[in-house]
Amino acid sequence: MSTLEAIKINQSSTAHRMKASFPVRRLRFDFTSSKRYWFDNDAYFTHLMNAMSAIFPQGELMLIEALRNIRDKIDDPLLQAEISAFIGQEAMHAKEHLAFNRYADEQHINIDKLQNEVKDLYAIMQKILPSMHIMSIGCAIEHITATLGAELLRNDDWNNRLVGPVAELWLWHAVEENEHKAVFFDAYVASGGG
Ligand SMILES: [Fe+2]
Ligand SMILES: [Fe+2]
Repeated sequence: MSTLEAIKINQSSTAHRMKASFPVRRLRFDFTSSKRYWFDNDAYFTHLMNAMSAIFPQGELMLIEALRNIRDKIDDPLLQAEISAFIGQEAMHAKEHLAFNRYADEQHINIDKLQNEVKDLYAIMQKILPSMHIMSIGCAIEHITATLGAELLRNDDWNNRLVGPVAELWLWHAVEENEHKAVFFDAYVASGGG
């Protein structure tokens, strides 16, 4: 075996061993004990956050798809590990927000309408926009979700009013949006984004 071949094998095994700077937590929530107006009995804020939950899963699936489309352009093994962990976290968010949205639907809260509108919008975007344009939109989405998440974690006027499994869902999501907030932008730049 030549030295060059040995280095290549060593580099690829290093790539496999690279660990992301944040974990993928596999959680599962049971919302059956939650109240209809789960945000401190406040209908306005409950519906505001229900609406956000309605649009999250499709957005998260779009971000995952966008990264999968460009990750071949990225050589950095550590960034590849971060992308894998990002995809793991967002996939879990989409799964648990879908579970929450099903629960809200059972409470006769009309989640479907908004959910389907967003699904159609993203389908059109994915059809007509270049992959790097979708990446740039993803950078903006990630910036906003990390900012909202930080506010939810820091501001006791918000987080003190959350209780039960819905609180755990939102606080878990807020923490992870902040853990992985840089990944999408780093992937955008590493894949040629200006
Ligand atoms: Fe997320
Ligand atoms: Fe995110």
